Amino acid sequence: MDRLIIFDTTLRDGEQSPGASMTREEKLRIAKQLERLRVDVIEAGFAASSNGDFEAVRAIANTIKESTVCSLARANDRDISRAAEALAASDNKRIHTFIATSPLHMEKKLRMTPDQVFEQAKLAVRFARQFTDNVEFSPEDGYRSEPDFLCRVLEAVIAEGATTINIPDTVGYAIPELYGLFLKNLRERIPNADKAIWSVHCHNDLGMAVANSLAGVKIGGARQVECTVNGLGERAGNCSLEEVVMAVKTRRDFFALDVGVDTTQIVPASKLVSGITGFPVQPNKAVVGANAFAHASGIHQDGVLKARDTYEIMRAEDVGWFANRIVLGKLSGRNAFKQRVNELNIPIESETELNAAFAKFKELADRKADIFDEDIQSLFSDEAVTPHNEHFKLLSLAQHSETGERPHARVVFAVGPQEVTSEADGNGPVDASLKAIEAQVNSGSELLLYSVNAITTGTESQGEVTVRLSRAGRIVNGVGADPDIVAASAKAYLNALNKLYTTGERLNPQTSLTP
Ligand code: KIV
Ligand code: ZN
Repeated sequence: MDRLIIFDTTLRDGEQSPGASMTREEKLRIAKQLERLRVDVIEAGFAASSNGDFEAVRAIANTIKESTVCSLARANDRDISRAAEALAASDNKRIHTFIATSPLHMEKKLRMTPDQVFEQAKLAVRFARQFTDNVEFSPEDGYRSEPDFLCRVLEAVIAEGATTINIPDTVGYAIPELYGLFLKNLRERIPNADKAIWSVHCHNDLGMAVANSLAGVKIGGARQVECTVNGLGERAGNCSLEEVVMAVKTRRDFFALDVGVDTTQIVPASKLVSGITGFPVQPNKAVVGANAFAHASGIHQDGVLKARDTYEIMRAEDVGWFANRIVLGKLSGRNAFKQRVNELNIPIESETELNAAFAKFKELADRKADIFDEDIQSLFSDEAVTPHNEHFKLLSLAQHSETGERPHARVVFAVGPQEVTSEADGNGPVDASLKAIEAQVNSGSELLLYSVNAITTGTESQGEVTVRLSRAGRIVNGVGADPDIVAASAKAYLNALNKLYTTGERLNPQTSLTP
């Protein structure tokens, strides 16, 4: 059976999403989970985009052994050299170089003639081949490029040694059948097409990234899919890894392709990415949404109880969901906690991190009788377990709200070694609490998004709050979880402030670059 290569670009294209930028440690943590997920290729970043991203790619290349580690590079010597330098320690590396080929991008963005683009693409692949025999080439905005010109460029870069040819639908304009036929046509017309593996890279602007990718595989003969966990990515995101993998696995009868992914690691990967980036997963999201396997209607429940396959096409446990059961409580000790953390495959970086999470678990168990697996996961997605990031930290919160009265909040929080107390009124208790924090911090940031999600079911559930702040062109997400949603909101706000005030490293790779 043919194999479908899963190329994950959560750490590169996914990270381009405003607010999703990550530190080197966070990227490394996700890379380790992607390796556990057994993706074939991890696009670790864009080494030439910043020193921070260079270091992140290098750290991932030094650590990851089971997956190929890749860096993006524009089609020029400097970018390619930086990518090669960052990947140097890896025995299993790939350089991914790209240049735009659509008339619009060449004329308006690159201000280059097609002949110049043709030459630069060839030289870039030739140069990249000096560092590795695993070179991918992408004609950016490939789907809106002239097929004749594209054939000329792609034939030339394959002749120079490109081993993977990726056709990006950069702006998410494609329609499944047309995109599949576009690929098929290229592969049929290019004489040396069989010397490379063909790849799809679809954006989700019209909600068709997964459908387009699958059509590229089925109709176009692609054998690599580029995707991100939770479909993370700029604008409407990229093709979602979990959906494309489960479509090919579940409909093996149709696709007849093997995928090497360990699907039981999908939900842990989804939770880790969501926790680190602060991008919540919508409840009705396929495969990884909280409701993806919840059968609410009586007829469905009855059917599933009699025979699961009446309404279930996948098994929840096969993608890493577990029963919503009580696992630990107030009396559970550190060993039981550690064991459950291991069973959930939550990576623990150090004893300090485990101890911090255990302290938070005890705090939570004092206030919440039943602790579910989701609660344990939230302890780790909450950045508070990495104390070095905690410049701002919630210490206590009191608020008063009563029908007909203006709510008031009093928040006590740490600012470095100092304890600060602040009070404010607001439209509601959340508004009052965030205003109280802002009155002291004066960050001047704009709140772009505020959302609350129940982690488990029932009114006892912890609320998980996400806030997105913007200041001076920088966008960050903060997350906080607590059974009290006002406290969760304050935690999320302080978490976002911690990110806003950390220096330099959180740079979206491509935002500061010119073509
Ligand atoms: O969408 C796109 O065109 C890209 C390329 C750089 C591969 O992400
Ligand atoms: Zn892209």
